[in-house]
Amino acid sequence: MRTILISGSSRGIGRAIAEKALQDGHRLSLGVRNVRDLKGSSLDPEISGHERILLNKYEATCPSDAKNWVDASLKKFGNFDTLINCAGIFKSTQLIFKDGEEEDIENIWKVNVMGPWYLTKYAWDTLARSGTGRVVVLVSMSGKRSKGKLAAYSMSKFALMGLCQTMKNVGWDDGIRVTAICPGWVNTDMASAVQAKPKEDMTQPEDIASISLDLLKLNNSCVPFELGINCSLEV
Ligand SMILES: NC(=O)c1ccc[n+]([C@@H]2O[C@H](COP(=O)([O-])OP(=O)(O)OC[C@H]3O[C@@H](n4cnc5c(N)ncnc54)[C@H](OP(=O)(O)O)[C@@H]3O)[C@@H](O)[C@H]2O)c1
Repeated sequence: MRTILISGSSRGIGRAIAEKALQDGHRLSLGVRNVRDLKGSSLDPEISGHERILLNKYEATCPSDAKNWVDASLKKFGNFDTLINCAGIFKSTQLIFKDGEEEDIENIWKVNVMGPWYLTKYAWDTLARSGTGRVVVLVSMSGKRSKGKLAAYSMSKFALMGLCQTMKNVGWDDGIRVTAICPGWVNTDMASAVQAKPKEDMTQPEDIASISLDLLKLNNSCVPFELGINCSLEV
């Protein structure tokens, strides 16, 4: 059993991971912008038990939320060994962006890059102490190649991938293993806003959840750093 911090667990991929992690018997500390979003669901501690789940307010643009969430997790569970970064936003900001869109670019930087970075910073010592710490990061195919014209999103995901590589290097000797998950389109609100493909042709969030949680069963000598997950052929 692991004790897992998951950001962005109100919806989409993060929620699918949290629900499967609960079924698999792990202890969860969930970071969500509005804890009321989980009320009445299986992720509500009132329903599944306060000994299994802790809910925390987490706004990714607010570094003190990251610190408070980590501190509260330690206070509640005594330790944790896994951090899964799912919170993220998509913006269709183009290379030649319009005047006034600077704010969107700054926001995507803060949420998609600085959010995971702050969480890593505050969670690091605890992950290192475990000897088998794991960091799973929802990057994207957009962090590996720029296929279209989405400058801001791709910029943020390439930066996130760079951060993952450095996490891997810094954490290696302490047994921290990092996996950057790089899907194409996943059937969530994020993808439906873009209407990229029929939903049934996209990767399903439950499948990303299975893969993410299977990673946690692997020994330090066997954890893949990067997983590309395509729902369309890319050559
Ligand atoms: N869907 C795809 O096709 C796809 C493909 C590749 C990679 N990804 C990546 O996978 C991750 C999860 O995406 P998804 O598809 O599950 O997206 P989603 O359905 O739109 O869910 C996004 C999650 O992030 C949270 N979030 C957004 N802004 C936040 C903020 N400022 N502070 C804290 N939490 C915030 C949302 O919380 P609220 O409910 O409070 O808004 C929600 O829980 C993202 O990093 C995304 O870039 C997605």
